[in-house]
Amino acid sequence: MKERADALLQLAQAQYLESLNPARDELLLRMERRAQDKGYPISDPEVGAFLHLTATLGRPKRLLEVGTNIGYGAIVLARAAGCAATVVTLEKSADLCAEATEFVRAAGLASRVQVTCADALEWLRTASGPWDYVYFDCMKEDYPSYLSAVLPHMPSGAQLVADNVLWKGHVANQTVPEGERIRVDALRAFNHTVVNGGAFDGVILPLGDGVAWAIKR
Ligand SMILES: C[S@@+](CC[C@H](N)C(=O)[O-])C[C@H]1O[C@@H](n2cnc3c(N)ncnc32)[C@H](O)[C@@H]1O
Repeated sequence: MKERADALLQLAQAQYLESLNPARDELLLRMERRAQDKGYPISDPEVGAFLHLTATLGRPKRLLEVGTNIGYGAIVLARAAGCAATVVTLEKSADLCAEATEFVRAAGLASRVQVTCADALEWLRTASGPWDYVYFDCMKEDYPSYLSAVLPHMPSGAQLVADNVLWKGHVANQTVPEGERIRVDALRAFNHTVVNGGAFDGVILPLGDGVAWAIKR
């Protein structure tokens, strides 16, 4: 049991870790600036670094990202997984799909990253995989449904990464704002399944807004 209130999160520690973010190339920095200007919720650089590391492990061949935005995560994943890998990434906004497609083209990854303009849950109901790396970064209340949809299509050894699983601290707090209740309940159920549900070996990392990382048994 953690006894100190600041055992995980301290301001100085968070600032220090932020200063350690690995260097990004001009394209990723341009995407970060674009996201900053427009208020787009792209993955944090430290989560990008984690995506890079995990997608390098085991050289996944078929990757799925749920939630594209402008394609930041998809580009990081495709680069890390290597030239034999393909990434399917799902985004419901036609405008964001167009923007992501343009960034993917600028990254020289048009042949390996498929930006798919669709509602994630609808698309997942008919998709067959197999997926050997899956990244959830979309509607938090739907993480349990995304998981139910992809689980049968993840072979043993496949990786699952999910962002924002601590949701601004609400997931760990006793008191939850009414407007966050559905998201928090869904994330608590999702985190429990990932860590203790029996299908995965998994952990919840206090990285960014909380990242779940699991390997299918
Ligand atoms: C947090 S952003 C994704 C960031 C991206 N993964 C990255 O690494 O930069 C989540 C995206 O999911 C999209 N989204 C929301 N609801 C969706 C749905 N039902 N189906 C598909 N995409 C959806 C949003 O438009 C938004 O662009």
